[in-house]
Amino acid sequence: MQILDGKALSKKIEERITQEVKDLKSTCGCTPGLAVVLVGQDQASATYVNMKKKACDKVGFYSITHDMPETISQEAIEKTIIMMNNDSNIDGILIQLPLPKHIDTTKLLELVAPEKDVDGFHPYNVGRLVTNLDGFVPCTPLGVMELLREYKIDVKGKNCVVVGASNIVGKPMASLLLNADATVEICHIFTDDLKKHTLNADVVLVGVGIINLITADMVKDDVIIIDIGVSRTKEGKLVGDVDFLNVSKKSSYITPSPGGVGPMTIAMLLSNTLKAAKNNAAKLSKQSES
Ligand code: GUN
Repeated sequence: MQILDGKALSKKIEERITQEVKDLKSTCGCTPGLAVVLVGQDQASATYVNMKKKACDKVGFYSITHDMPETISQEAIEKTIIMMNNDSNIDGILIQLPLPKHIDTTKLLELVAPEKDVDGFHPYNVGRLVTNLDGFVPCTPLGVMELLREYKIDVKGKNCVVVGASNIVGKPMASLLLNADATVEICHIFTDDLKKHTLNADVVLVGVGIINLITADMVKDDVIIIDIGVSRTKEGKLVGDVDFLNVSKKSSYITPSPGGVGPMTIAMLLSNTLKAAKNNAAKLSKQSES
């Protein structure tokens, strides 16, 4: 059994990005910039945003957080997004989800300029992913693909079972696997007999936030396990969706949680923001030439 070490890989990626930011600064004088919208008091969201901000600082990005009260209006958030779309210091825009119930999330995600959509949630980028065209891909599934690539795991022809069908993780995860020529199944809350599906899987990718959802009797020998879930136990310990102790004994590769996919998500946000900054710099230099 080999651990897929997301912490180590994310560190390597962040070092590469730090160097690229230095190069970008010296060649065009530009600094990649990320703007984050955080609404309300959700503790988990605040923690994630703080981690994202720290990661930006570490690699030399400019970052700004628009910290808004729970009661903020739809119009006020829309105004902020429009302002960021038009701000040349901002290359990437991220709206931390979930948003309060009175907010129309879809409308906000559609308002983000697709070329600044570093979360890959705009329908334009979703469409590009599904049709296997270059664009922005959601950070968590993108991080999973990077992790598989690092360990030279080729999913071509493999049976991959994705557990969870969210727009943020499950659906883009399935698209990326399909684009990589895997055979893909998506299981979700209404799936009858989950075990029947996972037992047939060469790769199980699970991200639903249910502690110990995947147990050793549900997987075959030498399975590859990607645990995207993060939950807190009653004792306050962070754990994934997989019974790591027992499932790892049957696995060929497995991600720990925490320390697997989580750090890769942040590394991919940095990578997407750098990509946006490079695209935007190239566009500006083209405009100044003509
Ligand atoms: N909430 C949970 N995961 C994510 C994510 O990847 N991006 C954003 N914006 N919000 C989230």
